[in-house]
Amino acid sequence: MHQDTILSVNRIRASYGESTILWGADLSVRKGCVTTVMGRNGVGKTTLLKTIMGLVKVKEGEIRLGDRDITHLPSYQIARAGIGYVPQGREILPRLSVYENLRLGLEASPQYKAGISEEEIYTLFPILKEFRRRPGGNLSGGQQQQLAIGRALISGPSVLLLDEPTEGIQPSIAIEIGNILRRLVAEKGISVLLVEQKIDFARHVTDYFYFMDRGKMVREGEAGTFDFRELEEHIAV
Ligand SMILES: Nc1ncnc2c1ncn2[C@@H]1O[C@H](COP(=O)(O)OP(=O)(O)O)[C@@H](O)[C@H]1O
Ligand SMILES: [Mg+2]
Repeated sequence: MHQDTILSVNRIRASYGESTILWGADLSVRKGCVTTVMGRNGVGKTTLLKTIMGLVKVKEGEIRLGDRDITHLPSYQIARAGIGYVPQGREILPRLSVYENLRLGLEASPQYKAGISEEEIYTLFPILKEFRRRPGGNLSGGQQQQLAIGRALISGPSVLLLDEPTEGIQPSIAIEIGNILRRLVAEKGISVLLVEQKIDFARHVTDYFYFMDRGKMVREGEAGTFDFRELEEHIAV
C-alpha cells in the first residue's frame, strides 16, 4: 500500500444474490485528497460504497483502512473505525428534527461523543442551526443534503464517502457543498471518496479520478491530466 493511502479497495468482488456487480474493483483514497469515482448509471458505484461500508458482503478481495483490515467487519464497526457515509438520496428521517437527525450520526462514534462538535457543523452549514427544531422532511433537497453530510461528520470520521451529493439539488447549493468538501480536506484533514455524475462539479473538487465501468475501474488519473473528453462521451450515452 502507498504510504499516503488511507483507504484501499483491493480486487473486490461483490454481488446481490447470484448477480455479481463488482468484478475485481480496485481503488485507493489518498490522505487529505478528494478521490472521485465517475461512471454511468448501473455500473456499480453505489454498490462499491455500500461494500466499503459493510452493507454488501465481500465475496473476494480486501478493504483496508490505514493498516487495518475492515473487509468483514459489521457496518457499525466500520463506521466506528472512522468512515462516514452520505448515502445516495440522503436518507434523512423526515419526522425527526434536524437536531435529532444530526444526533443519529453519533451512533457511529465509539463513546457517542461528537468528533466534530454540533456548533462546528452549524458553522459549516448555518441553515441547519436556523432549522434545528424543524422536521428533516420540511427541508429542501439541498438542505437535506447538508444535513446528511453533517450527520456523517459529527462522529469525526477520517474518511467521508459521498454518493452523488449534488443529485437533484440547485446549482448554487452544489457549489456550496463543493466548497465545504474542500474546506473539510484543508482544515480537518478529512479524506473524501466521492461518487459523482456531474463532471463540472467533480472537476471543481477532485484531486484524483477513477472511471468505473461494469463493476471495475477502467481509467484513473490526476485531475490535472485526466482525459475528460473520453469520459464525457462515455457518460453521455
Ligand atoms: N439491492 C439490490 N438488489 C439487486 N440488484 C441491485 C440492488 N441494488 C442495485 N442493484 C443492481 O446492481 C447494479 C449496480 O447498481 P448501483 O451500484 O446502484 O449502480 P450505480 O450507483 O453506478 O448507478 C445495477 O444493475 C442495479 O440494478
Ligand atoms: Mg448510484
